[in-house]
Amino acid sequence: MIAKQLEKEFDVLVVGELNVDLILNQINKFPEMGKEMLAGHMTLTLGSSSAIFASNLSTLGSRVTFAGNLGHDNFGDHILSSLKAKGVSTIFINRSVKQNTGATIVLNFDEDRAMVTYPGAMKYLTIKDIPDQALHQAKHLHLSSIFLQSGLAPDIVALFKKAKQLGLSTSLDPQWDPAEKWELNLSELLPFVDVFMPNMTELKALTKCVDLASGLSKLQPIANKIVVKNGSNGAYLWQENTLIHQPSFLNQEVVDSIGAGDSFDAGFIHQFLLGKPDEECLRFGALTGAINTTRPGGTGAFENLAMVKAIAQSSFNYIF
Ligand SMILES: Nc1ncnc2c1ncn2[C@@H]1O[C@H](COP(=O)(O)OP(=O)(O)OP(=O)(O)O)[C@@H](O)[C@H]1O
Ligand SMILES: [Mg+2]
Repeated sequence: MIAKQLEKEFDVLVVGELNVDLILNQINKFPEMGKEMLAGHMTLTLGSSSAIFASNLSTLGSRVTFAGNLGHDNFGDHILSSLKAKGVSTIFINRSVKQNTGATIVLNFDEDRAMVTYPGAMKYLTIKDIPDQALHQAKHLHLSSIFLQSGLAPDIVALFKKAKQLGLSTSLDPQWDPAEKWELNLSELLPFVDVFMPNMTELKALTKCVDLASGLSKLQPIANKIVVKNGSNGAYLWQENTLIHQPSFLNQEVVDSIGAGDSFDAGFIHQFLLGKPDEECLRFGALTGAINTTRPGGTGAFENLAMVKAIAQSSFNYIF
């Protein structure tokens, strides 16, 4: 009976940004001011690092809830229904009548892409929007894209500290800083972050170091686990002076790599919460990152668990 009362409803509380991606494909040149051009294909899909992470983590089998902000508009409806369809709880998502839901317009041209993001409601998420109940009901806190969330940034240390005090484990994927200022109080924050998950460029920018070794040694006194993603070169895990490298699962036919980092995070955290050793978490993260690149967008390969397993076996000869 007591054990039942203590059982938490969610494995992971994701705090973060929510927006749609409007992806325009098959354009034959970059747009020019004052002129109109046509795209051959258009997709409206769930965007944002945090939402892709939450959605794919839920597909893998973790129980996920989300705290974030949406507007009262069609894009907000689309995001809510996409999350619900993947089994993500949306009870801690606020809807504002004052702000619109954010959107990223993606122009895909050859192998390259240009993006413009309107942050909208996500900018106004503050620590007050994350009720204690949300933290009490989860075993783990994950936060992504802190530089897109100016309303939350001043309180990020307080949020992670509170989560640790309540007994949650924690992870943070900082993601890119569009302002390229990289102002994050790492020495205060990282002691409360169990798994810090930047990519290689972000690690270098945040530490103002030129390579992996110097970046890691700078964080050594303050960090717990550091996981560094490096695209098709795989990923690294560093803890207590031990560095593990996981090569990527070779994908000969990459469709796109939108959300590969978030899918990596989902695979890693799913295994981490099952208590698996570092090597297994890292390998599974690399697998789910590679699986992400076999279908369009961040969630295309994660429709359901059967699909993820089928791609793992057929594309990477991996059975789970
Ligand atoms: N082309 C690829 N082939 C195989 N695996 C890949 C490929 N690209 C990424 N991965 C896997 O996914 C992981 C995460 O990708 P990446 O390093 O691009 O993260 P990121 O830069 O954080 O991405 P995001 O733009 O989604 O935030 C890599 O460490 C790797 O294991
Ligand atoms: Mg990333």
